[in-house]
Amino acid sequence: MSQLEILPAPRPIDLVSAPRLSSVFHHHPTTWTQNKSLLTGKSVSVNGDDLGDNDIGDDGDTIFPGLPPLLRGHPEVHLRNGVIRAARLSATNEPDSESAFFVADLSSVYNQLERWRRYLPEIEPFYAVKCNPDPYVLRLLAALGTGFDCASNGEIGQVLRLGVSPDRIIYANPCKAVSSIKSAARTGVDAMTFDNEDELYKVARVNPNAKLVLRILTDDSKSLCRLGLKFGAPLVTVPGLLLKAKELGLDVIGISFHVGSGCYDSSAFTDAVGWARAAFDMGLTVGYKFSFLDVGGGFEDTNFETTASVLCDALDLHFPDRSGSGLRIIAEPGRYFVSRAFSLAANIIARRAPLSVVGETTEIKGEGDDQPSMMYYINDGVYGAFNCILFDHQEVHPYVLTMNGSFHFSGTESLQASSVWGPTCDSIDCVCPMARLPAGLRVGDWLAFNNMGAYTICAASQFNGFAVSLVTYTSGDGYGSQEVRLALKAAHAAVLNA
Ligand SMILES: Cc1ncc(COP(=O)(O)O)c(C=O)c1O
Repeated sequence: MSQLEILPAPRPIDLVSAPRLSSVFHHHPTTWTQNKSLLTGKSVSVNGDDLGDNDIGDDGDTIFPGLPPLLRGHPEVHLRNGVIRAARLSATNEPDSESAFFVADLSSVYNQLERWRRYLPEIEPFYAVKCNPDPYVLRLLAALGTGFDCASNGEIGQVLRLGVSPDRIIYANPCKAVSSIKSAARTGVDAMTFDNEDELYKVARVNPNAKLVLRILTDDSKSLCRLGLKFGAPLVTVPGLLLKAKELGLDVIGISFHVGSGCYDSSAFTDAVGWARAAFDMGLTVGYKFSFLDVGGGFEDTNFETTASVLCDALDLHFPDRSGSGLRIIAEPGRYFVSRAFSLAANIIARRAPLSVVGETTEIKGEGDDQPSMMYYINDGVYGAFNCILFDHQEVHPYVLTMNGSFHFSGTESLQASSVWGPTCDSIDCVCPMARLPAGLRVGDWLAFNNMGAYTICAASQFNGFAVSLVTYTSGDGYGSQEVRLALKAAHAAVLNA
C-alpha cells in the first residue's frame, strides 16, 4: 500500500469567515474581536463565484509608486484576507495562487521605536539594514529619524537613495574592500568600524578623513549568533592598533562592540561596556579622547526592558560623566525592530505519513512522544524565508490558519505529533521537526508563523525555482497606525519636493 493510500483524501476548500475566538491553535484569539469587518459570519464559497459579501478589505493607499499599497487593519485580518484571495485566484486557475506570503505590520516597527526611545533615550538607534532591508521598513525608520548601520555599498546606496544624509550612516563592517571604502567616501559616508591593522592602512590610503570606530571583542557566548569568531579586536591588541592609527594620522573617534545577535542574557552588556571603558582609557594614553560609543546590536524583543536597564546601569557605572563630556552613544539594533512585525502564511501543498508508520498513523495523547505521525509540506522552506533556521539558529512555531478548508475549527481537535517541511527536493529543508498539529489538517490548509521579520526575506533564495514570498503591508489597527501613515506620506512628500 502506498503512503498516500493510507491517508484520507483532501477536501475541497470551503472557507467560512466566522472566526474562532478561542481556538487553542491560535496565538492571538482576542485580536479577531477587534476587527468587526470580519465578524460577519458569512460563508465564502471558494469553488463558486460568490465572495462578494466577504469584502476582503480596502485597497490601501499607494504612498510610494512602485511599492505595494499600504493597507489598514490588524495583520491577522490580512493573513486571512490573503488566504481568501488565494482561494479566489485558485478558483480561476491562476498559477501559484496558493503562494506563501508575509504580512508586515508597520505599526509594530513604529511601536518598537517608541519603546526604544522610552527606555534608552540617550542611545541613538542605527537600524542594522542587513536584518531586513524591506523598502517600507527603511522608509519608515528614515522618516522617524533613526540612523542606519550598513555593511556594504549596496546597503549604503539603498539608504542614501531615500534621502538619508551620509552622517546618519555608520559603515559597520570591520573588513571592507578598498574599493568599498573608496565608494563610501565618495558618497560622504565617513564613519566606519575597524578591528585590524590592515584596515587602517587601507583607510589611510583611500579615505584619510574617515571617522574610525574600533570594534572590540566582547563575550558573545550568551547569544544565538556569535560574531566574535569573525570580528572584534581583543582588548590586548587595542593599544597597538590605536598607536598604528595615530602613526598613520587617522581620526579614531570611539569604540564599538557587538554582544552577538539574539542575545538572551542581558548581563552580556555589563562586561561589554566595562571593556569599552578600558578601551577609552587606552585611547587616552595614546592621545585619543574618544567621544563616540557604539553598543552594537543583540537587542531582543522579549527581554528588551531588562537589557535596557542593565545597559543604563553599566553606562552609569563606567561613563558617569558622559553628558558633561559630550559622549555620543549609538546602537545597531536589527532584530529588535522587525522580528515581531512580520508574519508568514504558508499553504500545505502535500502531506504524507513518515516511513516509520506505514499502515497507521499514531495519535499522540501525552508528552514525550518524539515520533511525528504526519509530515506536512508547505510552500516556503529553509531555502526561502525559513533560512533563519539554518543561518540564524531560530526555531519556528506554526499555528493553524485554516483547517479542513475552514477558518472555523474546533479548539478541541486532537493534536498529533507532526513535522513540517519546505517545498524543495532537499531533505535538509525541514521547517519544524516536531510540532503538535491538529489531526484534521488537509492539503490546501494554511499554517502561519509569527516573528518572521528578522534575517528571513533578506537571505531567501529561489533554489529549485521557488519564488521568494511576497509581502503585504498594513499600518495595523491600533496605536501607531495613523502615525505610520503620516510619517510615510511626509517622507514621500519630502522626496518629491527635494
Ligand atoms: C555589525 C552588526 N551590527 C548589528 C547587527 C544586528 O544585530 P541584531 O539583529 O542582533 O540586533 C549585526 C548582526 O549581525 C551586525 O553584524
